[in-house]
Amino acid sequence: GIPKFVKIVEVGPRDGLQNEKNIVPTSIKVELIRRLVSSGLPVVEATSFVSPKWVPQTYSMGNDYCWMQLADATDVMKAVCDLENARLPVLTPNIKGFEAAVAAGAKEIAVFASASECFSKSNINCSIEESLVRYHAVCHAAKELSVPIRGYVSCVVGCPVEGAIPPSKVAYVAKELYRMGCFEISLGDTIGVGTPGTVVAMLEAVMAVVPAEKLAVHFHDTYGQSLPNILVSLQMGISTVDSSVAGLGGCPYAKGASGNVATEDVVYMLNGLGVKTNVDLPKLMSAGDFISEHLGRQSGSKTAVALSRV
Ligand code: HMG
Ligand code: MG
Repeated sequence: GIPKFVKIVEVGPRDGLQNEKNIVPTSIKVELIRRLVSSGLPVVEATSFVSPKWVPQTYSMGNDYCWMQLADATDVMKAVCDLENARLPVLTPNIKGFEAAVAAGAKEIAVFASASECFSKSNINCSIEESLVRYHAVCHAAKELSVPIRGYVSCVVGCPVEGAIPPSKVAYVAKELYRMGCFEISLGDTIGVGTPGTVVAMLEAVMAVVPAEKLAVHFHDTYGQSLPNILVSLQMGISTVDSSVAGLGGCPYAKGASGNVATEDVVYMLNGLGVKTNVDLPKLMSAGDFISEHLGRQSGSKTAVALSRV
């Protein structure tokens, strides 16, 4: 059967906004995080301490694309780090990012490896093995400060350059992150190509080496497969799901790709299944309206659009 409670990890302020070309003011980001926390979400990924100058290489995505959207990570974190009732992890690609995160008040971090060699090179400028060595150092530093570490694996089903990724490769990277001390491993279908067919095969391989209760799933809605993929993941015993309010986001490596699965749509489905999340859907929708209005477009959540017409 499916879990009675699902922990939703809200990634909109990070994975969503990092894909917005127009810089969102710090004050709007802070207000968004506040509203998300007050909707009852237990985890809100707040920002990312990456290099604002880094321009992903291999893939064509327009020369002006870079991670400038996250250049205010310190200010965002300082403004939200005392919020109560939610954990507020931040991404850290290296020791430099880890130190900046801790200095800004972060109490939880996430490292991000890839199951695709090409994506690793383009995203973080090193091979998979080099990234694991680097993350070992980050985990070591984090453990000394008792800072919990989440691990991401990206491209768990497919990569824009390499195509299909073997489940054994995903299992290997997930296991390495688990062994170095990540308390949870989030499996990201970064470009959203997975279907229940490929997702089940991938999860079977990963669950042979990392227990289901230590795994999370992270889907992007490029082909509209997120909800079926989440449902099969729940049926396999996964009880942590990443999602993004208003479906914010996209993928700089896949032209025209839509965003992360919308948190409102996940909550609507879980409510229908009788699965508890602790999230208040109307409050979540108001956080989604707030950021959609700021961005000047309709919410990417079908649930939010449908319920706002009722
Ligand atoms: P690099 O160029 O190899 O780094 O980039 P470097 O160590 O050679 O440093 C180059 C410059 O960057 C130096 O500045 C450093 O100080 C600076 P300079 O001396 O030239 O003035 N620098 C930094 N600045 C701020 N914060 C830092 C930092 N580190 C170095 N932490 C690096 C390597 C990893 C830094 C770079 O490639 C990078 O920042 N990549 C991040 C890419 C990114 O954010 N991608 C999106 C997140 S992953 C994702 O979206 C997938 C996920 O959502 C799951 C899914 O969807 O499936 C998680
Ligand atoms: Mg993502």
